[in-house]
Amino acid sequence: MGPRAGGPDRLLLAVATALMLTSRPPGTCGLRIIGGHEVRPHSRPYMASVRFEGQHLCGGFLLRARWVVSAAHCFSDRDPRTGLVVLGAHALRTSETTQQVLGISTAVCHPDYHPTTHANDICLLRLNSSAALGPAVGLLRLPRAGARPPKAGTLCYVDGWGSTSNFEEQPPGLMEAEVYVLALDICNSSWKGQLSPAMLCTHSGDSHRHGFCSADSGGPLVCKNRAHGLVSFSGLWCGDPKTPDVYTQVSAFVSWIWDVVRRRPQPGPPPGTPGAPAGAA
Ligand SMILES: *[C@@H]1O[C@H](CO)[C@@H](O)[C@H](O)[C@H]1NC(C)=O
Ligand SMILES: *[C@@H]1O[C@H](CO)[C@@H](O)[C@H](O)[C@H]1NC(C)=O
Repeated sequence: MGPRAGGPDRLLLAVATALMLTSRPPGTCGLRIIGGHEVRPHSRPYMASVRFEGQHLCGGFLLRARWVVSAAHCFSDRDPRTGLVVLGAHALRTSETTQQVLGISTAVCHPDYHPTTHANDICLLRLNSSAALGPAVGLLRLPRAGARPPKAGTLCYVDGWGSTSNFEEQPPGLMEAEVYVLALDICNSSWKGQLSPAMLCTHSGDSHRHGFCSADSGGPLVCKNRAHGLVSFSGLWCGDPKTPDVYTQVSAFVSWIWDVVRRRPQPGPPPGTPGAPAGAA
């Protein structure tokens, strides 16, 4: 799984991590946003938790009252319609009155998503009813149509809960790390040439480890108040500068996203639907 022939990469799925746990000393990484801090509750009201069988597995963000954007790899081996989306959360495991739990009626993952390379790692979730927008539940904007990805050095923020019940270290609430956009060619070299064009990388900007970790997948990378990335994959050692964190480059998918959302698809994916460009890939 993951780009081959390179570093000890892995999918950012709690399940995948659980399988690989034996290859990583426990407690070294904490399966959460690395080098970050807990945010003020509900200050990132667009954050969604995607849950399967009662477990937080991936992040996402609310784009429209009925649509959440997440990563395709979160759904590659499970039926999205068995998942739930939790909005308005801060501490996931507590019963917060702000939380809204919605079902997923349809998941439209990118038709050109490649599980081995992680290219086009994006999926749109249509909720079974509209979220009630308010102080704790709100929308996050996409990049403008035709916008370029943020320049190298741009300060961005990545958020996630990054916890699973399999591990002891649970974040107290939603966590956030400050990261800086890394030039794609430099990142591609670190990843031994395994990256595709519609990807975006970040680094911590200092010698400390910052970034995302397992189960932050699908969560947004927010740059200048817009969703410019979706957490896709990183190296075995979370926050390791040798394997920079890699995101889906959202700006490459803006027209595809709006095509899907406006079409309001019926249940079932529309593979090869006319007018669905393959991102920038
Ligand atoms: C949406 O799904 C949730 C979770 O399965 C369920 O509790 C709720 O009743 C559903 N709502 C509608 C309008 O179908
Ligand atoms: C990464 O490097 C490989 C090998 O040089 C190249 O084929 C690929 O197109 C590069 N990817 C990007 C996004 O530049």
